[in-house]
Amino acid sequence: ATLIVDANAPGRTIPDTLFGIFFEEINHAGSGGLWSELVDNRGFEAGGRHTPSNIKPWSIIGDESSIVLSTDLSSCFERNKVALRMDVLCGSDGAKSCPSGGVGVYNPGFWGMNIEQGKTYKVVFYVRSMDSIDLAVSLTSSNGGVVLATSNVIADASKVANWTRMEVMLEAKSSNTNSRLQLTTTKTGVLWIDQVSAMPTDTYKGHGFRKDLFEKLVDLEPRFLRFPGGCFVEGEWLRNAFRWKEAVGPWENRPGHFGDVWMYWTDDGLGYFEFLQLSEDLGAAPVWVINNGISHQDEVETSMVFPFVQEMLDSIEFARGDNSSQWGSLRAAMGHPEPFELKYIAIGNEDCGKPYYQGNYMKFYDALRKAYPDIQVISNCDASSTPLNHPADFYDFHIYTSANDMFSKSTKFDKTRRNGPKAFVSEYAVTGKDAGTGSLLAALGEAAFLIGIEKNSDVVEMASYAPLFVNTNDRRWNPDAIVYDSSRVYGTPSYLMQQFFTKSSGATLLKSELQAGSSASVVASAISWKNATDNKNYITIKIVNFGNNYVNLKLSIGVNENSVKLSGSQKTVLTSNNVMDENSFQNPKKVYPSSTLFKLSGKDTTIVLQPIS
Ligand code: AHR
Repeated sequence: ATLIVDANAPGRTIPDTLFGIFFEEINHAGSGGLWSELVDNRGFEAGGRHTPSNIKPWSIIGDESSIVLSTDLSSCFERNKVALRMDVLCGSDGAKSCPSGGVGVYNPGFWGMNIEQGKTYKVVFYVRSMDSIDLAVSLTSSNGGVVLATSNVIADASKVANWTRMEVMLEAKSSNTNSRLQLTTTKTGVLWIDQVSAMPTDTYKGHGFRKDLFEKLVDLEPRFLRFPGGCFVEGEWLRNAFRWKEAVGPWENRPGHFGDVWMYWTDDGLGYFEFLQLSEDLGAAPVWVINNGISHQDEVETSMVFPFVQEMLDSIEFARGDNSSQWGSLRAAMGHPEPFELKYIAIGNEDCGKPYYQGNYMKFYDALRKAYPDIQVISNCDASSTPLNHPADFYDFHIYTSANDMFSKSTKFDKTRRNGPKAFVSEYAVTGKDAGTGSLLAALGEAAFLIGIEKNSDVVEMASYAPLFVNTNDRRWNPDAIVYDSSRVYGTPSYLMQQFFTKSSGATLLKSELQAGSSASVVASAISWKNATDNKNYITIKIVNFGNNYVNLKLSIGVNENSVKLSGSQKTVLTSNNVMDENSFQNPKKVYPSSTLFKLSGKDTTIVLQPIS
């Protein structure tokens, strides 16, 4: 096969936004993932407002003869009325003395809290009692046997007669990846507890993002962040959909909600504000997917959808409004007086075929054009083959398929009309048996697809893999790009594959021609880009060999030798012995890119492409 790259021809600028990421609250991506809150169900609200509420995963320390736990609706937080009541029967005034470690409650976090020696954890909770209190706040091993850090909170009855905020800083004396938070006492009495939070102090910039996971995102150099779903935006039922107004403001007063598509509770600590902050911290343009009054099971008729339209307009005021506006002032009060650069709104997720979608869409579209004409509007309807029957700046395109099919889709956009709305491939992945929980095979199919996107970036302006994150304790969807538990993290081959494309956004697509001969298993593209660090120009050629055989590829790079001198090059290969190989916590680099210096012998060089690489 021969690859001819013409670096003399003008080339075409690739959109700045081409490759980004899609964050969905799925697989405990946020709760128990990127959001560093260690306490699960911090407000005892997980069962909703009804008593007895579902306080899981909180559990009792002690037995029923020494402590009784119940819940009531006595909290001082209006949107969070459920509070925990502890009737402590043991102690010096009680029928019997308490066990030496005391009685109370513990929270194991999301399958164990990762507590690290020398690090400090801020614990905040609210308490009320008619009696004086003496509470030990501790981080311990999973059975409470080893105390990693502890502090006593002591207060007179007069101080805690009304709900009182308590805060302690705990410095861990030792490490344990499977720890828990305990609130215990040896004092008889009745006390109420609510809104218990434990956060490490070393989150990214203090913004609450778990650092090792945040760095994995930085390494993708994402140019946009689509959030917060996916199906999470829609809900199985509208009553369980993500509603941004319930996910802003002080964390203590966020009701949280049960995401009924992915079937878990989230306290919504990672809310709308935090998603905008995350985008800003990553240098990625926020793409806000709004609920358009449509869930999986129910829909709001177009004639009645206005409250949802207003909710969207308010969300933009929250992001962009000045401090004198109602919602802009809330953003400022939350610590971000400057507006966020919100320019993209997606109207719903995968809703195109639903009865009220098009009608609802037009209501949102018209309201946006009138109030915020600069905002780019993304429709759920696929226009890759047939033109849309409604106006849009972008259309959403999702693809989950086999590896072979994904490979063949490298030409998917070759024949798409060149005018009209641009494609936003906001979810793509190889799934099913080809993918397992993240195979090399999947990554190869996807790499070919992305090469096709790069070449068609005149009509495709944005693309992101899905899903991004998985906590291995709650795999709701396979595969996912970044895999973690409380303390460990690795990237799947699909994650590592995306790093081959980090220089593409904003680069120049070079004219290239692949004369593959009998090697229909090869696809390739070439870009040039300027490295801001050394100020040099680079050419990056990406080649996928999807087949099982070695391929001799003659690489011919046409440059103007009077003005350009080719110097120094490097070859980076992602492959493995078996196409179904995956990474794991035990072997996070089983499938991993390896780089070697590579000598270009003149403009024409022969490269041997490894099978499945
Ligand atoms: O990425 C997982 C799910 O796949 C998304 O929530 C949804 O948009 C799609 O069906």
